[in-house]
Amino acid sequence: MRYALSLVGLLVPCSATWLLPQARNFIYIVPDGYGQASQTIARDYVSLLQNGENADAPVSIKLAADEMVIGTVQTLSSDNFITDSAASATAFGCGVKTYNDAIAVDDDGQPVGSILEAAHMEGFKTGLVVTSTINHATPACYAAHVKDRDSYEKIAEHEIGYSHPLGPQVDLLLGGGRCYFKPQSDSTSCRSDDVDLFGFAKKKGFRVMQDRKAFDELKKGTAKAANLPYIGLFNDGQMMYEIDRLRKPEQEPSLLEMVETALNSLDRATKWTRKGYFLMIEASRIDHAGHANDAAAHLFDTIMYNDVMKFVREWIDKHPDTIMMSAADHETGGLTLNGFDPLPLKEVSMSIEEVERLWEDFNGTDRRAYLADTILPGYGLSGLNESEIDTILSNDDLESDLTSRLSSKAGINWSTGGHTASDVTLHGYGSGWRGGNLKADMAGNWDNTELPVYIEGVLKVKMSKVTEKLRAQGTDWVGKRSEGGSNHIHGH
Ligand SMILES: *[C@@H]1O[C@H](CO)[C@@H](O)[C@H](O)[C@H]1NC(C)=O
Ligand SMILES: *[C@@H]1O[C@H](CO)[C@@H](O)[C@H](O)[C@H]1NC(C)=O
Ligand SMILES: *[C@@H]1O[C@H](CO)[C@@H](O)[C@H](O)[C@H]1NC(C)=O
Ligand SMILES: [Zn+2]
Repeated sequence: MRYALSLVGLLVPCSATWLLPQARNFIYIVPDGYGQASQTIARDYVSLLQNGENADAPVSIKLAADEMVIGTVQTLSSDNFITDSAASATAFGCGVKTYNDAIAVDDDGQPVGSILEAAHMEGFKTGLVVTSTINHATPACYAAHVKDRDSYEKIAEHEIGYSHPLGPQVDLLLGGGRCYFKPQSDSTSCRSDDVDLFGFAKKKGFRVMQDRKAFDELKKGTAKAANLPYIGLFNDGQMMYEIDRLRKPEQEPSLLEMVETALNSLDRATKWTRKGYFLMIEASRIDHAGHANDAAAHLFDTIMYNDVMKFVREWIDKHPDTIMMSAADHETGGLTLNGFDPLPLKEVSMSIEEVERLWEDFNGTDRRAYLADTILPGYGLSGLNESEIDTILSNDDLESDLTSRLSSKAGINWSTGGHTASDVTLHGYGSGWRGGNLKADMAGNWDNTELPVYIEGVLKVKMSKVTEKLRAQGTDWVGKRSEGGSNHIHGH
């Protein structure tokens, strides 16, 4: 039995009273870096567009995530009140409190089994669908074990099963981070060795997709699904922010498209099996936009998260032996909405990341005209006067200059470029009695380590069994911790 430490230090059994509705499938959704203010921006923005765009007469609506709120989650790590994504994902992915930077290892650097690995061990199909690089901290904690989140090459190896002591654990991987799966002889590789992880994946029977075209072909199969296992990585680095992807949808699938395809595949693969599936979905880049204090990119990725939540709820209504929970790993940006009016964000058609890329790539002669005619209108800042444009040019810090102008136009105030200690919202959904049991069980405030314990109970799997196996032959394979740590909580 598991115990939770109560406020007065008494040991209170927390699972003893859980109803634990049994289900075949579990979907866990992480909106990385998403706080309550993120949801408020998205909701009020959508409401304004639906109701005449009049900020003087705001109308209350609900987005999908609003309708599935059941509690709150504490996020502190073992060495800081402010967690990073690695410690947090180790907590909600493996049930263990650990230090910032740790990928599914405990405070002593020993590997701990994840809920995904536990499900795999019992014969469930498993999947990871993200918009960051697939070897970024959150997905990493489900299928890799390293002492330092920056060990990206090793994380990629573990995730595909190349150097994971238990072999491939994940049947379906979709996201970014392509460059880590190619040997250094490839000019687009970001590895420092000749390991060819795509080649390895093919040998292991994975279908390998490296672009949108291959993804679209995958969807052409019966029931819009393909046979497992497969890996689809659509960008060498992070996938595009949704606000940028909307202008070039032919380049990458959206998170929603990937989720739809993944669920169809998992559903088909488990139609006649005894066990169902565990799928982790991450709306990864809400966090990155928070670090950049980029209000519009944050908004559009948060709307996409709500679109995914809506789709998953409808999916569960059609596949009722499935339960979903969703909570962020932490809040990013210390977002407050004093003087708030999100309507100016409507004029924005690119992220600050795209702005910087365009600015760096510009090879013409008239930078000033390029700024005034292309960059500023693209970032929702047309109508600045000559002296303001001169100020921007002379400041020579386009990112912070433009993001703070846009944020103040929308009355959105960031208190940091890093993470905060604020609690995050817990969402959950089940159909019929399962939903009722889930709400009765999970209403309230939880420590993030308690969440996977609940999933264990629902799926009847055990993370400790994986931990035991991971440690059976020694643990040198987790590698070393690099000096100094990487300080992800305070920004990139
Ligand atoms: C300048 O930029 C344009 C537009 O991005 C590109 O098509 C062109 O090849 C570039 N020229 C040089 C000399 O780099
Ligand atoms: C340009 O705009 C700024 C900010 O609104 C204002 O303070 C300034 O007076 C304006 N300058 C001119 C020359 O209009
Ligand atoms: C954010 O709030 C602080 C304190 O209220 C204020 O000084 C600052 O100008 C605000 N920033 C923006 C971008 O509105
Ligand atoms: Zn972050």
